[in-house]
Amino acid sequence: MSNRKILVTSALPYANGPIHIGHLVEYIQTDIWVRFQKQRGNLCYYVCADDTHGTPIMLRADMEGITPETLIAKVSKEHQADFDEFGVAFDNYHSTHSEENKTLSSLIYERLRDAGHINSRSITQGYDPVKKMFLSDRFIKGDCPKCGAVDQYGDGCEVCGSTYSPTDLKNAVSAISGAKPVPKDSVHYFFNLENFNDMLREWTTAGHLQPEISNKLAEWLDGGLKQWDISRDAPYFGFEIPDAPGKYFYVWLDAPIGYMASFKNLCDKQGIDFDEFWHKDSTTELYHFIGKDIIYFHALFWPAMLAGAQFRTPSAIFAHGFLTVNGEKMSKSRGTFIKARTYLDHLNPEYLRYYFAAKLSAGVDDIDLNFDDFSQRVNSDLVGKVVNIASRCSGFISKRFANRLSDNCSEPELFADFVNANDTIAELYETREFAKAMREIMALADKANAYIDDKKPWLLAKEDGKDQELHDVCSMGLNLFRVLAAYLKPVLPTLVKEAEQFLAIESQNWVAGLQPLKGHTINEFKPLMTRVEADKIAAIIEDSKENLEKTVDAVKANSKVEPKAKQFEPIADTIQIDDFAKLDLRIALIIKAEAVPEADKLLKLTVDIGDETRTVFAGIKSAYKPEELEGRLTLVLANLAPRKMKFGLSEGMVLAAGPGGKDIFVLSPDSGAVAGMRVK
Ligand code: 2FM
Ligand code: ZN
Repeated sequence: MSNRKILVTSALPYANGPIHIGHLVEYIQTDIWVRFQKQRGNLCYYVCADDTHGTPIMLRADMEGITPETLIAKVSKEHQADFDEFGVAFDNYHSTHSEENKTLSSLIYERLRDAGHINSRSITQGYDPVKKMFLSDRFIKGDCPKCGAVDQYGDGCEVCGSTYSPTDLKNAVSAISGAKPVPKDSVHYFFNLENFNDMLREWTTAGHLQPEISNKLAEWLDGGLKQWDISRDAPYFGFEIPDAPGKYFYVWLDAPIGYMASFKNLCDKQGIDFDEFWHKDSTTELYHFIGKDIIYFHALFWPAMLAGAQFRTPSAIFAHGFLTVNGEKMSKSRGTFIKARTYLDHLNPEYLRYYFAAKLSAGVDDIDLNFDDFSQRVNSDLVGKVVNIASRCSGFISKRFANRLSDNCSEPELFADFVNANDTIAELYETREFAKAMREIMALADKANAYIDDKKPWLLAKEDGKDQELHDVCSMGLNLFRVLAAYLKPVLPTLVKEAEQFLAIESQNWVAGLQPLKGHTINEFKPLMTRVEADKIAAIIEDSKENLEKTVDAVKANSKVEPKAKQFEPIADTIQIDDFAKLDLRIALIIKAEAVPEADKLLKLTVDIGDETRTVFAGIKSAYKPEELEGRLTLVLANLAPRKMKFGLSEGMVLAAGPGGKDIFVLSPDSGAVAGMRVK
């Protein structure tokens, strides 16, 4: 068996949102491949991390009244719990906001700079005068200059499809504050991608990419490479550029370096030689699994950055397509934008692992999760074919033979057929043709069931003098089941672990050379998997619809660039007088004001609203010291549904005016108002 040394990554998920089933296609695909490599006896490390930097994360933390560090720590925990329960077994899960990443990002930047690959120049951008920050295209909205469609992003119109620059937008506003952006100059740093034109032409056609991706890159290269803007101005949550105070690395600069950083973190914990995997002439293998939307970053910027900084380039980039659900883009209103957690609340994660495996190929085509097909495949393949072999045979072995398998292998050729399929199946796993691998394995499962059908152990059990045959047939069935379990191990780690316990065998390596179990005592059979129940699927869809109402979450299923922009849109829709009448606005007396230690924006207020005392969390810490507020009056929305926050229940909302920061004003002390007074 070979002893390859392999480092594998999946794309680093953004730290501003939950893992959903669209993400899981990639993590499950990668995890299956890694488990397969390990089962083959290769040394294979699988690392990942949360992608923590950038404006959306900074704004979201701001909105939640917590620091970005607190936000990313919370999200990292949630992500890791989701991955863990889906059986995605990273060797290391780290963060791009880490010392290792800071050091490596600076090192790569400095090497690129010293080799003449970085330059700087002033550019003009939209600036939000209220938030005092530059606005990327995604944070400027307005009317399309071509077709007039309202509410379009700064980079292109979703209605007529035209692309333009944000300065062309009519009635442009900042999506963060609603203010009119003003043009402002600032120096930016650029990576001279064109210096790598020849290197990239070579690299993108040298077998590191899937053919369809390689063709796409040829088009991009023919179109000419532009300089890549790698800096962002403060305020920005990220790493400051070493020689440029107030300038930060753009999130996409340090994100892929996060692969190295996570691995460095693992190396330091386990004494692995980092350089062996990353030095220029490394003979180890490096693979990045990604979605097809981020090819540009991984197949152009990343190899160029690595080459320019004297590191090795990837052995291959494996891109996959997007997930559709029931034939359509995941949709919140249809309840098909399903979070990993919502799925886990109702269904066995291994159903989804198997279903994705049964759909995945080495190509970049989208895959569809059709719930009828999902139930049918899981029920018929896993429950009806594979697990059924064990349940059909184990009863007789238990009742008639005290759980001891026969001393004979009565069908050595059949067993050999199963084992001999291992080269084909290994090749299919290796080349990520998982759907084909599942078909091969299910064809073997059909063969095992046909063998049992043919031998009819249930009849043998009733006939005199057929004990040996019954014993042989059922033992044979279980031996075949054992081979199938070994083949399915990368896909169904939990089921196979339980199968191994049932068979009382060690964790199985790859099948090559496997011998049948003879005269071996097994354990009592317990059902290994139950059928998918339709009402569970209905519950997932229902809960996903509910999630929509509970969260204001505008991230598009497959849009990975600057997501969450919509979350910060100004509220533009008008309301009717009846809507206004629903608001219970009261003057409230602030009885007590306390800082919330974990949140740098929040104060915890105890307020008297006339007929009761309420606790309200308010994001006004930047403007008031707690002691200044006690005894003062404020305006409170009293009938806002209570909101469970990390720090306690907030039972209303303090209304204040002003642009933010130090300029937030609650009521003037001499307003003449009294607690409990209703405002209308
Ligand atoms: O598209 C995304 O979700 C990014 N967070 C992926 C980053 S992958 C790598 F470059 F870090
Ligand atoms: Zn338009």
